Amino acid sequence: MSTEQALTRPLTMALSKGRIFEETLPLLKAAGVHVAENPEESRKLIIATSNPGLRLIIVRASDVPTYVEYGAADLGIAGKDILNEHAAEHPGGLYQPIDLNIAKCRLAVAVKNGFDYAAAVRQGNRLRVATKFVHAAREHFAAKGVYVDLIKLYGSMELAPLVGLADAIVDVVSTGNTLRANDLVAVEDIMPISSRLVVNRAALKTRYAELQPLLDAFERASQPSVA
Ligand code: ATP
Ligand code: PRP
Repeated sequence: MSTEQALTRPLTMALSKGRIFEETLPLLKAAGVHVAENPEESRKLIIATSNPGLRLIIVRASDVPTYVEYGAADLGIAGKDILNEHAAEHPGGLYQPIDLNIAKCRLAVAVKNGFDYAAAVRQGNRLRVATKFVHAAREHFAAKGVYVDLIKLYGSMELAPLVGLADAIVDVVSTGNTLRANDLVAVEDIMPISSRLVVNRAALKTRYAELQPLLDAFERASQPSVA
């Protein structure tokens, strides 16, 4: 996109449908922004807001960093799990100013109930690990000195140990309900996850005046409340 195009269109924020969209609505509200449509009901991918200077685009959660890095969106919101994987391929591509404290969960290793993970690690067995988070998994097992064959999946990771595709998975866990429902158990935490605001590096300079009020409002609204 030309610089001129990028400067004449409204500020564009990339969000994914579902929990990120839902949990971003209160932050937008705190910034005085009302969203014109619900992407769960509408098929529209570009959504206007009450602020003519701000529009939303609806993309897959994993695609948010790409839209923002290439400047098709000026800013976006994505989970640390997704941002970590993106950063492994594109180091320093995104400015990441604010932890929004939304969509909180953790990245964990899980195995089928009854699989003796500790013994497998102790014995130096080579483990087959299925995950969407290949970079985080590789780093985690390398730091532990565990040999792994990583199998890249795009979803429903919980199925892999049940049908013999993998010994373990690396996936996000929140309530633990999905693991329990599939007779899996978390055996190791890798990192806490929450969603972050990311900003295109060029937009940060060229559109700072428009971005600043939004960044300030998000920063204020996302502070964990002090009891
Ligand atoms: P994609 O559509 O690209 O496959 P996805 O289905 O993982 O992505 P979501 O399920 O909307 O997308 O998750 C978006 C983000 O929310 C994740 O990247 C993660 O940071 C966080 N997240 C995922 N699952 C949970 C959960 N159960 N509870 C809280 N936060 C979660
Ligand atoms: C996510 C993730 C896990 C589940 C964990 O799935 O992929 O399967 O949440 O949450 P829990 O510990 O509270 O059960 P999601 O609900 O987003 O479904 P999807 O990935 O299939 O869209």
